[in-house]
Parts: sequence; structure tokens; C-alpha cells
Amino acid sequence: MKISVSYLSSKYAKEATIKLIEKTSADYLHVDLMDGGFVPTKNFTIPEVLDLLENHKKPLDIHLMVFDPIIYIDDLAKLEPKYITFHVEATKDIVKTIEKIRKYNIGVGLSIKPNTDLYELMPYLSLIDLVLIMSVEPGAGGQEFIPSSTDRLKELIEFRFQNNLSFQIEMDGGINADTIKLVPDLDIAVSGSFICKSDDYQEKIDELKNFK
Ligand code: DX5
Ligand code: ZN
Repeated sequence: MKISVSYLSSKYAKEATIKLIEKTSADYLHVDLMDGGFVPTKNFTIPEVLDLLENHKKPLDIHLMVFDPIIYIDDLAKLEPKYITFHVEATKDIVKTIEKIRKYNIGVGLSIKPNTDLYELMPYLSLIDLVLIMSVEPGAGGQEFIPSSTDRLKELIEFRFQNNLSFQIEMDGGINADTIKLVPDLDIAVSGSFICKSDDYQEKIDELKNFK
């Protein structure tokens, strides 16, 4: 399982947190961008995010919690991320947005909130590279893992197998050394406060990687 670290809630400022994550064996840097519309908080402007991440080393896993994600793609593509993920609830132009990300040769992710029917994803699963299952309501770090997320993971794994598809499955929210044991078949686990509020990022990442 790969580990993607979110710097959203940390003891330190964003810059210092990212520097610490860069020193670990984390697989991705998870970038949470919130517009104050799709979720209540706004936490970025495009110039700020380009500046913050211009010298990044880890592959970026960008999670857009914004309405109209398509309007951000040209700018975010400058960071050459591994994935750009947007929410199935955030736009009517899902296929157009997928195509726009794809045009830049960036992996396309679709994310789904805990109370949205998984059925909403089905038409797009053959078009994308990653599904991000939210295991908390998007908008803030440090929330508790929603236990029914495990059933959603099972259903998606089954659908992927039955339809011979190959998208990655990632989960985000409330993941720590205990809850990761509930989702051993994930491809990518996002973890934020469990790592970034600790004194030893690498030790926490090792706990996640060696959860069995
Ligand atoms: C929540 C964000 C998450 C969050 C995870 O809206 O998308 O990426 O930072 O943080 P933890 O691991 O603390 O739940
Ligand atoms: Zn996230």
C-alpha cells in the first residue's frame, strides 16, 4: 500500500510541514485545495499554491474540494502532478474535466463524499486512473474515520474485478495505525494529522506501512 501525506493539519506551517514530509519515505504529497464553496473553508489561491509547491520533490496527489474544478487545471498542470482528483458532486462537466486533465498527461482521479451513492461514479470508472473514497466529510483534517467506508472499498474492488478495470483506489480521512487495519486492500492511503501532528513523521509512516 502506498502512503500519501496531507499537510492540511499540522503542528507547523505549511512550508515546514512539506519539508518534513519530503524527508520521509512517503509515496506522495497529498495537496488539499478548498474553495470555501464546495466545502466551508477556503485555503488557497493559485499563485500561493504554485509558489508553495514549485520546488516539490515527491509526486503530487492533488485533491480538489472545489466547484468547477475545470477552471484550475491549466494552472495546476504547471506543477506536473501525478494525479489531479476532483469530486463527482462538484460539477456537471465531469467528462470535460476528465479530458482536460488527461490532455496534460496527468492521472485523473474522481472523489466521492461519504453520503453519495457509489452508483454516481459508475459511468466514469473506465475513464479514470483513481477513485478517492472520502472516509470523512471533506473540509477538515483530524476527523474520525467513518466505519461504513470499508463496505464502499469492498464494492469498488468487486466492481473493478468484474469489469476488468484498473483504476487505483485511495481513501482519505481519519486514517491512522488502527483504522488502516480496516482497509488492508487499499492501493493508496491518505493520512494527515496522524503523521503531521506527531514528532516523528517517518515513525508514523512506518506504522502505517507495517500495519499487519
Ligand atoms: C479532508 C482532507 C484530508 C485530510 C486528512 O477534507 O481531504 O486529506 O487532510 O486528514 P486526516 O488524516 O487528519 O483525517
Ligand atoms: Zn484530501
